[in-house]
Amino acid sequence: MASRSPHTRIPLVGGNWKMNTTRAAGLELSRAIAAAARANPAAEVAIYPPFPYLAAIAELAAGAFRVGGQDCSAETSGAFTGQTSAGMLIDTSCSSVLIGHSERRHGLGETDAILTRKLARAIEAGLMPVLCVGETLAERESNRAHDVIDAQLRGSLAGHPEASLANLVIAYEPVWAIGTGRTATPDDAAEAHRTVRQTLADLYSARFAERTRVIYGGSVNAKNAADLFSHEEIDGGLVGGASLNAADFATIIAAAAARCQA
Ligand code: 13P
Repeated sequence: MASRSPHTRIPLVGGNWKMNTTRAAGLELSRAIAAAARANPAAEVAIYPPFPYLAAIAELAAGAFRVGGQDCSAETSGAFTGQTSAGMLIDTSCSSVLIGHSERRHGLGETDAILTRKLARAIEAGLMPVLCVGETLAERESNRAHDVIDAQLRGSLAGHPEASLANLVIAYEPVWAIGTGRTATPDDAAEAHRTVRQTLADLYSARFAERTRVIYGGSVNAKNAADLFSHEEIDGGLVGGASLNAADFATIIAAAAARCQA
């Protein structure tokens, strides 16, 4: 295990439910997550349920964990059928939002130019933005992972001053590891996280880079979480499939909390 620097980054575990669960199953899962979050106060927990369930889950959470949207609009309000504004998320007791998940970058063609505007709306509303970056398998195999991560960060953060990014979280999610059962090794993930911090230091300041949480996503599960989170560069995880299983997600939360005691 790498030695721990005396940073004060609070570990964060996000559960991205994607387009899964029903209202009843989501509420049941949320009760178990609230108990796990309360039992592990050293870690911060955030859940990103489907939009229709946000209000009910935010009410149930009662502050035990953050509730967030899986996306928000680049617009504030108006004739944008099907979109949800950052202000509406706040109005639904959400406190966070995912921006630029690869399933939106690659599945829906969201560009950095759109994402920088979504980020602006999230910040204006007062949400904690979790900006997702990560390379595809082809990009990794052609040794372009570093350049892709750097370019995504520069593109998505364009025009945002350091002072507006105090709550920013970066999620490194290599596309080849999402939902595939193929996890980046802790060393691979840590190397990518160092790339993230280099870019943040270059764009802003070394202090900002050191303070900003960088979490890993891509087939995090109950078995590999402790190993990943033991690395000083990895401040927690953004979890898909395993966040739908209460026992597995509780184990992942406990692994993140244990990072503080290590
Ligand atoms: P999996 O954990 O299912 O690989 O999904 C990761 C993810 O996309 C989280 O946002």
